Amino acid sequence: MSADKASAAQEEIDRLRVEIEQHNYRYYVEDAPVISDADYDALMRRLMALEAEHPELVTPESPTQRVGATPLAALGAVRHAVPMLSLGNAFDEDEVRAFDKRVTDTLRAAGLLGPASQPDYFCELKLDGLAISLRYENGKLMQAATRGDGQTGEDVTANIRTIRSIPLQLKQGAPRVLEVRGEVLMNRRDFERLNQAQAEHGEKVFVNPRNAAAGSLRQLDPRITARRPLRFFAYGWGEVHGLSGGQADRFDEPAPGTREVSTLPRESHGAMLEWLAQLGLPVNAQHNLRATGADGLLAFYARVGKLRATLPYDIDGVVYKVDALPAQKVLGFVARAPRFALAHKYPAEEATTALVDIEVQVGRTGAITPVARLQPVFVGGVTVTNATLHNEDEIRRKDVRIGDTVIVRRAGDVIPEVVGPILEKRPADAREFRMVTACPVCGSAIERPEGEAIARCTGGLFCAAQRKQTLLHAAGRKALDIEGLGEKLVDQLVERDRIKSLADVYSLRAEELAAYERMGTKSADNLVAAIDKARTPTLGRLLFALGIRHVGESTARDVARHFGDMDAIMNATEEQLLEVPDVGPAVAASIHRFFAEPHNRDIVEALKRQGVHPVAEAAARSGRLAGKTFVLTGTMPKWTRDDATRHILAAGGKVSGSVSKKTAYVVAGEEAGSKLVKARELGVPVLDEDGLKQLLGVTE
Ligand code: IVH
Repeated sequence: MSADKASAAQEEIDRLRVEIEQHNYRYYVEDAPVISDADYDALMRRLMALEAEHPELVTPESPTQRVGATPLAALGAVRHAVPMLSLGNAFDEDEVRAFDKRVTDTLRAAGLLGPASQPDYFCELKLDGLAISLRYENGKLMQAATRGDGQTGEDVTANIRTIRSIPLQLKQGAPRVLEVRGEVLMNRRDFERLNQAQAEHGEKVFVNPRNAAAGSLRQLDPRITARRPLRFFAYGWGEVHGLSGGQADRFDEPAPGTREVSTLPRESHGAMLEWLAQLGLPVNAQHNLRATGADGLLAFYARVGKLRATLPYDIDGVVYKVDALPAQKVLGFVARAPRFALAHKYPAEEATTALVDIEVQVGRTGAITPVARLQPVFVGGVTVTNATLHNEDEIRRKDVRIGDTVIVRRAGDVIPEVVGPILEKRPADAREFRMVTACPVCGSAIERPEGEAIARCTGGLFCAAQRKQTLLHAAGRKALDIEGLGEKLVDQLVERDRIKSLADVYSLRAEELAAYERMGTKSADNLVAAIDKARTPTLGRLLFALGIRHVGESTARDVARHFGDMDAIMNATEEQLLEVPDVGPAVAASIHRFFAEPHNRDIVEALKRQGVHPVAEAAARSGRLAGKTFVLTGTMPKWTRDDATRHILAAGGKVSGSVSKKTAYVVAGEEAGSKLVKARELGVPVLDEDGLKQLLGVTE
C-alpha cells in the first residue's frame, strides 16, 4: 500500500471520528440531532470499513471502540487520587440560613467578603443517579470509577466508554491530567421503556431509574451496558495537573517541569464548569444559576421545586456551592464533606410501606380502578394512604400482592402510584388480587372487552358511583365550573337520591342545601349563585360537561363551534359529525351513540326546562352583545323571559338574576319590582321589550 493511500485513509478516519463525535454530542447531550439516523449509520459504517482495511490505524478513542467485546470476570478496585466526598444536607430553611451564615462569617473574617456583601453561590440540581469519576490523561479517557467508600471505588471504565455522551477524547486545550466528577443517570421515560422490555423478556425489572443506572454500570458485560440508555452530567473535578500558573493548588500540584497545556479558569466554579463544557463534557447548564445570600438560595430551591415534576430525570434536591474558588479554599472541609457546599433536599418522591389491601373504585365511565390501601406513609410532602394500581394487567406485570412491602411514588401533584413490590420482603401469606365480577357499588356486571386493559361496570347512570363522578366532572372547572359542588356534597345528594341527573342540580334551593352536612347558609347561597351562573355556559362547556366518552374539552369546543346549537348536535348523523375538523370515527360514533340513548336526550331536555341555555362559542366573543350582562324583570308584552334569554345569549350577551354596577341593561316589563328600583339607583339603563329588540336588531 502506498504511503499516500495510507495518509489519505488516516485523514478520512480522523475527519469521520471528529464528525461522529460531534453528532454524538448533538444527539446525546444537546438532544438536538442534525442528521438522520441513517446518515449517522452511514458515517459509522464508512469508519468501520476504513478501520478494517487499516487495522493499524484503530485507536481506543475511535467511536467504533466504545463497546468492548469481552465480559470481565470482576470489577477491579480504583483508588481515587483525590477522595470523592459527600455533601452536608439541609432539609429546611433554617438549615440553609445557618449554612449561609457560617459561610458569610468565615469569608468576612478572612477578608474575602465586605461587611455589607453577601456570598455568591452557584446553584445546581442534585441529580439522583450515581457519582462517577472520569480520568482523562492528555485528553484521552483512561479510567472511570464509581465512588465506592470515597477513597476506593470500582473500575467501570469499559462500561463508561459505552455512554455516548461521554467523550473518549477531549477537545483541544485539555490538561495533562483531568479527573471529571459527575453523575450517571437514566431518564424516567428511558427507565420505563427499559423495564417494559425487561419484563417482556422475563428479566429483572428495576425499582427506579437510579437503581437501573447503578445496575447497568456495574455489569460485567459492557455489551449489556451499551444497550442501556445512560446519561452523564459533569458537576465538578478531582485531580487536575499540568495547567499554566500555580494558583489553583487545591487541585493543581503541577509536577516540576510539566508543560503548560491550558489555562484553567480558576476564579469560579461556574467558569470551571464552562471550561469543562468547552472540552466537550456534558454539563447540565440549563437549570444552573448564580444566586446571592440565603434568600437567593431559597428562591432557587422554590423555583426548581416547581419544575421538578417536569424534568425528564429524578432529582432529590439542589446543591449550593460557594462560587469563588479562592473562597472555597478558605472554607475547606469537615470530615468527608466540603464546608463550601450544601445539598438542600426535597421531600422524597418514593417511600416504602405495607400494602394492606386492594380495593376497586368505579370511575365516571364505569372504569374499575384497583386502588392500594396502604399503611400511611409520608411521601412527596404529604401522607399517603391510597395509591392507584391502574388496572389488572399492571398488577400482574408489577407482581404486586396484598401483604407486600411496596414502593410508593408521588411526584409533584401526580396521583400517588404503587411502583412495585420489594420481593425480598414478601410474606408467605401474601395474596394475589382478584378482579371483581360485579360492581361493588351497584351490583351490575363487570365487563372487560377483548383487547382492552380496563374493566367496566355496565350499570351506567344507574350506578351511584358513576352518577357521582359524572356530576363532579360536570361541576369541574373546565366544564360548568360550579364552585362549591364538591365530593362531600355530591356524595350526600346522590345517596339521598336528591340528584338523579345533571338537570336536578339546577333545582337545588339554598334553604334545602343549608341542611346538608358542612353547609352553612352562606355557602348554600354561594352555591346557588354559582349554579345560577352555570345556566349560561358556552355550548362547548355544556357538551363537555355531559361526559361523552372520547369528547375532551377541545373536541367539545370544536363540535360546538361547528354545529352552533345543542339540537343540531343531538340530531347529527355520524357523517355530519365527521365533518368537524379533528373529529375521527371513534369520536363521531361515541357522540352519536350517546344521543341515541333516550335517557341522555331526556337529560338535555330537562336541562332546558331548568333554564339552562348554552351560548354559542363564537357569539360569546364576537356577537353584538358580547360581554354585556342583562337582567330581566317583570312581564313583557310578547316575549316570554325564555325568548328574551335565548336571543340575548345568541348575540353573545349574558343574563343574570341580580342587578349590579356591572349590569349593562335591565329589561323591565310590567310589574317590574325591586330590580327596576335598583337599576334606577345605580344608573343602569332600562329597556322595554321594543328597546331590547332594537338592540338585538330583530323585528318580530
Ligand atoms: S458535588 C464535594 N453536585 O450527591 C462535593 N454532587 O450527596 C461533591 N450529586 O456523591 C459533590 N448532583 O453523587 C455535587 N450537582 C451536584 C450533584 C451532586 C448529584 C450527588 C453526588 C454526590 C452526592 C452527595
